[in-house]
Amino acid sequence: MKIVRRKSELRDALGGARRDGARIGLVATMGALHAGHLSLVREARRTCDVVVATVFVNPTQFRPGEDLEAYPRDEEGDAKLLAAQDVDVLYAPATDDVYPPGFATAVEVSGLTEVLCGDPGRRGPEHFRSVTTVVAKLLNRVQPDVAFFGQKDAQQASVIRRMVRDLDFPVHVEVMPTVREPDGLALSSRNRYLTPDERRRAAAIHRALDAASKAAAGGAPVSEAIDAARAELASEGIEPEYVEARDAEDLTPAESFNGRPILVALAARIGSARLIDNVVIEGKGS
Ligand code: PAJ
Repeated sequence: MKIVRRKSELRDALGGARRDGARIGLVATMGALHAGHLSLVREARRTCDVVVATVFVNPTQFRPGEDLEAYPRDEEGDAKLLAAQDVDVLYAPATDDVYPPGFATAVEVSGLTEVLCGDPGRRGPEHFRSVTTVVAKLLNRVQPDVAFFGQKDAQQASVIRRMVRDLDFPVHVEVMPTVREPDGLALSSRNRYLTPDERRRAAAIHRALDAASKAAAGGAPVSEAIDAARAELASEGIEPEYVEARDAEDLTPAESFNGRPILVALAARIGSARLIDNVVIEGKGS
């Protein structure tokens, strides 16, 4: 595996592959890799000729007071995990390679970025503007045929899909299922912040989404499914930032479970970790 740090090195590392018409796959990450990230890498390896992984803790997508400084960093461990998956190129740039002096441009998807985590009282639309800006740069630098993202960050995946569609990025976006611990907790780099007791309580997040799914399957209306999720969280003393049901594609509020796929998404702070998770409830087609 070649490790490159500057965009010129990245271009050189991929020049041959591009000339040969190889199918290039991109997995963008902020490192502290776990089995969720590695599931994306494995799918890239299975379906592409050349696999590029990026590790960059993008400072602009953290709000002041968020966990930028505390965010786990383990470049050596990450490189080992990626090499073991047969990744061809690891691009791990320094901040000034991504944002040189004078950097002044942003890519912004409106609407989708203003709800759920993008609500101005939460992480805000600026978070997603920072994500789309850095992902646009990574897509331009790597020029992959396929870019892999995780359903764990469902809103991020929707926003990126929309950006790619609206701005005609010549890339296919592949969204892979959420990888979970045996008790259902979605793998996240932020799970490292949990104490053993918080870790045990955090399993209620998945049980809450399960409760919403079961309520929906039993014919309950949206409000009752959300109440069922809230009750499960309350049983562990978790007061969520939000639990909402929205159209899985355009993120407009869901009226019922009878039509299109519905995303039930939640965010909750447990100790110092802000965790998110979601489930998609398929419509019954009636
Ligand atoms: P990061 O949180 O490191 O996640 C990188 C990718 O891994 C994302 O597409 C995310 O959805 C996926 N992922 C994380 N946990 C997962 C899990 N349990 N199962 C499946 N996939 C999972 O998301 C980011 O980084 C950044 O915002 C980034 C896109 C790299 C831009 O900076």
